[in-house]
Amino acid sequence: MSELLPVVTLISGGGSNLQAIIDASKTGGVPIDIRAVISNVSGAHGLERAQQAGIPTEVVEHTGFSSREDFDLALQTAIDTYQPKLIILAGFMRLLSDEFVNHYRGRMLNIHPSLLPDFKGLNTHQRALEAHRTGILKEHGASVHFVTPDLDGGPVILQASVPVKNDDSAESLAARVLICEHQIYPLVIRWFAEGRVSLEDNQVIFDGQALKRALSFDDLAL
Ligand code: GRF
Repeated sequence: MSELLPVVTLISGGGSNLQAIIDASKTGGVPIDIRAVISNVSGAHGLERAQQAGIPTEVVEHTGFSSREDFDLALQTAIDTYQPKLIILAGFMRLLSDEFVNHYRGRMLNIHPSLLPDFKGLNTHQRALEAHRTGILKEHGASVHFVTPDLDGGPVILQASVPVKNDDSAESLAARVLICEHQIYPLVIRWFAEGRVSLEDNQVIFDGQALKRALSFDDLAL
């Protein structure tokens, strides 16, 4: 068997993306070794998911630090103990300092519940619904991107879109997007672990070519 890429995953909540990644790693499709799951929230359900999968967990609570920099440094120290080659943000709901982000440049991924650059930040589903009601938006979705100091603005690797329906609520739309998230995140992690995707000078390289625009899950012949 080829070598598994050591990764650390950061979460703050339910961890359904984490679960999709765990499942994908267990079935062999995604060649990673999840060395630890670290949360900034002590009761995060994702921690239980990790424990059930036999993955070490840690909690580094941001409330215990007086500054963002101090928290980020403690988090970085905790992460680096595991010597990961990839950091996976999976519903990690904290702003990160430029120093932290730059420390992991080119080896930190995030999933964002919108078709970036649309709807950076929070409440993406509600904002997408409002845009749909004014007639300016037909599709919503999710994006996997490299993390850079530009918040939710790092180069996008892969997106998946879903239709927005007239009778959608933010919850029904979120559920539809989440199904896509569980498909595209393990896939990009697999590509990264296989050396097929990288970041060079703020540019995504995929299979040796600079991506002119994000890949679309719908266009992939899988
Ligand atoms: C996902 O929608 C993710 O895109 C966003 O936060 C949510 C986390 O969900 N950043 P889960 O914890 O993976 O279930």
